[in-house]
Amino acid sequence: MAYSAPKIVVTPPGPKALEWIRKDTAMLSPSLSRSSQLVGVKGEGVYVEDADGNVFLDFGSGIAVNSLGHRHPEVIAAIKAQLDRLVFLNSLDYFTVPQIEYAESLFKVTPGDFPKRVFYTNSGSEAIDTAIKMAKWHTRRPYGIGFINGFHGRTMGAVSFTTTGVSARRGFAPMYPIAHFVPYPYCYRCLFNREYPSCDLHCLSYLTDVTLKKITPPDEVAFLLVEAVQGAGGYIVPPKEFLPRLAAIAAQHGMVLIVDEVQSGFGRTGKMWACEHSGVAPDILAISKAFAHGLPAGAAVARAEVMNWDEGAHEGTLNGGPVILEAAKAVLRVIEQEKLVEKSRVQGEYLKSKLLDLQKKYPLIGDVRGLGLMVGIELVGDAKKTPAKDKRNRLLEEAFKKGLLLLGAGECSIRLAPPLVITQAQIDQGLSILEDCLKSLS
Ligand SMILES: Cc1ncc(COP(=O)(O)O)c(C=O)c1O
Repeated sequence: MAYSAPKIVVTPPGPKALEWIRKDTAMLSPSLSRSSQLVGVKGEGVYVEDADGNVFLDFGSGIAVNSLGHRHPEVIAAIKAQLDRLVFLNSLDYFTVPQIEYAESLFKVTPGDFPKRVFYTNSGSEAIDTAIKMAKWHTRRPYGIGFINGFHGRTMGAVSFTTTGVSARRGFAPMYPIAHFVPYPYCYRCLFNREYPSCDLHCLSYLTDVTLKKITPPDEVAFLLVEAVQGAGGYIVPPKEFLPRLAAIAAQHGMVLIVDEVQSGFGRTGKMWACEHSGVAPDILAISKAFAHGLPAGAAVARAEVMNWDEGAHEGTLNGGPVILEAAKAVLRVIEQEKLVEKSRVQGEYLKSKLLDLQKKYPLIGDVRGLGLMVGIELVGDAKKTPAKDKRNRLLEEAFKKGLLLLGAGECSIRLAPPLVITQAQIDQGLSILEDCLKSLS
């Protein structure tokens, strides 16, 4: 059945969902921080149905994974066709055609007119760990520098650079032993209490004049690791000159610039890659999420001269399986055929303009920011920007009960990241539920 709108038949979580949740809670890892009580059983386009028959409008895309909407027919057909040919052959020992074909397509759409190489991974975290290892191998330097409020994943290397909150780090020390951190330009809440643009990006001066002069010798730094737009940290868009200036610092000192586009990639921000908004071509680009339509996949794409490690230095059994890469090839085709990068830009502008209208009516919305369909709102309790965390959590809960899936981010922000195929009418459906929730909280 084709869905056309959210539909609540029983207040979620309904009885069937509750029963699944009860069993899940008893058996699955308690470390999973579920943000809502959705038990999804079907998906189509921008809608998801739960175990009780409720239909939800998906404004989170499973954290920017379902960018083509759920079960895009062309990708599903590509997956089925590959299942009928060859499900798996490991790429440690053998060669498979989809790995090569996908690399050819990927290099055409990734930034930088220079020779590239790719290493396929099973997740975003693994793409980051790959990038970290590669940068260390390439430079033979020990230190890595990341940004405060950054999220890079949960494996030991990636979590060492994840600083969105101590709950991700508690109990795991010692981590990557020589990670250093500098502030990201989160201008709405500047750690230096400065104003942009008069600050002239003081956070970068902190990097050059404090970190690299007093703490960490620049010639011992292997890499700078940065999100092009901070994701889990709150959908924070840096000023346009931030990445180019960072790239210049990396180049000056022979450091590898790793840009994490696990969340912001594949058209999400109205460009294929968020770093293209500022014309930066990273030395290593880490990608995942929307890569293969929800199949576990990621990659580190690097300048060929940076990916110069020896045979045996880094490998993985399941990486880059043929089914995954046929799905990934179809994802790239659909993005192009359906002009999803442009759609993301246009619908994102629309969504942002409507949110700015809501901000005028509801002072709870302290900030509206974003690029393309990677849009964040930050909720505040007063003019001093006191974080309205409880209200944010209540809003997420209320929206869920009314049939709208939203995701939290940062301390008190909400991410709006619907599938890139969303129409204006569907955006309006979501905004109308969002406004109902804002009304009831004001
Ligand atoms: C920017 C960014 N990097 C890395 C990761 C880690 O990806 P994964 O959860 O696939 O390991 C995430 C996940 O949310 C992310 O948003």
